[in-house]
Amino acid sequence: MNRILFVCLGNICRSPMAEGILRHKAEKYGLKLKIDSVGTGSWHAGENPDKRATKTAKDRGIDISKLIARQITEDDFENFDMIYVADAEVYDGVVDLALNREHKLKVDYIMNLVHPDLNMPVPDPYFGGIDGFEKVFDMLDKACETIILKVKNTQ
Ligand code: 4NP
Repeated sequence: MNRILFVCLGNICRSPMAEGILRHKAEKYGLKLKIDSVGTGSWHAGENPDKRATKTAKDRGIDISKLIARQITEDDFENFDMIYVADAEVYDGVVDLALNREHKLKVDYIMNLVHPDLNMPVPDPYFGGIDGFEKVFDMLDKACETIILKVKNTQ
């Protein structure tokens, strides 16, 4: 369960922050993880993260400035063990691409790591201010800490 993919809509705000946070923690704890992030949409493919996401992460000591957005593909269901989605819209978009039950079972809401079974969204900060990004960062940080605890129990 060591290959983890984060998914949001554009792959420029929420999921790259989650990727950066988990990469940072995995390095800190010396854990071997394959980590990536994607969007269900293609609008921002090829772009670096939104400047507000980059600043929020940088203020907490994490550099996500060089990540590059891409759109999810069917191969991602084979290449990752867990696919964590930001909200219901993203969940629906991802599950629509799943070819079988095994793929579908890999998909879960990111915040279910913190509040199991509630399917709580990570709110989309794109149309708001920097405070929305900071709130999202804190939510993702908690979720990533739970992933680290799970992995530590298996490595
Ligand atoms: P993200 O945020 O899904 O967290 O990367 C968004 C980025 C761009 C758009 C929507 C959400 N957009 O509509 O372009």
